Amino acid sequence: MSDTVAKLTIGDKTYEFPVLSGTVGPQVIDIRSLYAQTGMFTYDPGFTSTAATDSSITYIDGDKGELMYRGYPIAQLAEKSNYLEVCYLLLYGELPDTAQMADFTERVTRHTMLHEQMHLFYRGFRRDAHPMAIVCGVVGAMAAFYHDSTDINDPMQREIASIRMVAKIPTIVAMAYKYSVGQPFVYPRNDLDYASNFLRMCFSVPAEEYVVNPVVARAMDLIFTLHADHEQNASTSTVRLAGSSDANPFACIAAGVACLWGPAHGGANEAALNMLKQIGTPDRIPEFVAKAKDKNSGFRLMGFGHRVYKNYDPRATVMQQTAKEVLGMLGVENNPLLQVAQELEHIALTDPYFIDRKLYPNVDFYSGIILEAIGFPTSMFTAIFALSRTVGWISQWKEMIADPQTKIGRPRQLYQGSVERAYVGIDKR
Ligand code: CMC
Repeated sequence: MSDTVAKLTIGDKTYEFPVLSGTVGPQVIDIRSLYAQTGMFTYDPGFTSTAATDSSITYIDGDKGELMYRGYPIAQLAEKSNYLEVCYLLLYGELPDTAQMADFTERVTRHTMLHEQMHLFYRGFRRDAHPMAIVCGVVGAMAAFYHDSTDINDPMQREIASIRMVAKIPTIVAMAYKYSVGQPFVYPRNDLDYASNFLRMCFSVPAEEYVVNPVVARAMDLIFTLHADHEQNASTSTVRLAGSSDANPFACIAAGVACLWGPAHGGANEAALNMLKQIGTPDRIPEFVAKAKDKNSGFRLMGFGHRVYKNYDPRATVMQQTAKEVLGMLGVENNPLLQVAQELEHIALTDPYFIDRKLYPNVDFYSGIILEAIGFPTSMFTAIFALSRTVGWISQWKEMIADPQTKIGRPRQLYQGSVERAYVGIDKR
């Protein structure tokens, strides 16, 4: 509990609310008794000032541009760790020792195949379906195939569902890709690491083996790591809200995938690359910057700005460096998109409009350039984000289910509609 109280005066009455502290970051005013005490609600569309939960998983200091998973700075994890180890860290709270890592890797690796009947499910989609539409549907359908891990009150079933989600999501996403290009599905291979296996499932064909380039595999692993979790963002909050009704984990993750799809969230990587292509050459940048500053244009610089970061997104720093490395390794360091991106970043960061609003490149600004260089079409970008974020969603879902304070999420509203009125028959209207 807290020693500090916040006082709220309404008319001639003053109410007191406890102020709670986390281990780091802003304190919160505990307003759970507000309605009971005052008969009023708070009003916070977009949750700009609302902490919806306690969490011990991810911490962001948006002003400093810091991101930590379980206390470890993202730059250290990006440099020294790997995605599967980060998955363990997010799911269980600590870095694994050698035996724990071997056991976890074994469990994930042994769950990578999909129920064979799910292949038929894919074939029901149109060939030109967006991969996110397929991923959303297939993840939701997992509840129909894996009944033995849908009882959320059984910790063992929750654990198995978590492993299944982390293990199968690369297979699900790769199959969505294969389906869209009319190629046969490629089964997972258990002798490959997580990222290499995903790349092979996407790019190998029966007629020709795909030799995984270690630089590309490392870049893929980094993209997964940098997107693995991001505290209570829109899709994670969606997963938590869906889970708060005790819905099964597969349904909850499908809800997260749906929310991630939007261009203001995970869809921004696809939109950012399309924008860079549309700009085409550095001489057209001023035209697009002017459009982004014009409120009537409805246009925003995609891959710029963030609700929480009011400084350079630390993930974008790693992404920018990785983009240079991957393009260098592939011999395309003069890639025009990278040049447009770097020039656009430079111009935007020296423009008072962007400086005043603290708009910096976010993770999605450079990730698309890497993914395109690897060979993915833009339609796959958000699906790869969903793959990476699945472990974050499932970690947050597990944390919520295990928390005895969890209640069904039920926001209230400021009603602006008609007051009570009598029904009028159609002949009298
Ligand atoms: N280009 C131009 N102006 C912008 C941009 C942008 N990308 N982003 C924000 N602004 C302006 C906005 O018009 C507003 O100006 P004013 O104060 O004059 O009205 C001000 O900056 C604040 O914007 P906001 O919409 O109130 O900020 P928000 O916190 O609600 O939105 C955001 C955050 C990420 C939705 C927004 O910055 C945006 O739409 N960015 C482009 C999409 C994007 O890159 N999204 C990926 C986010 S990172 C990956 C993820 O987490 O999914």
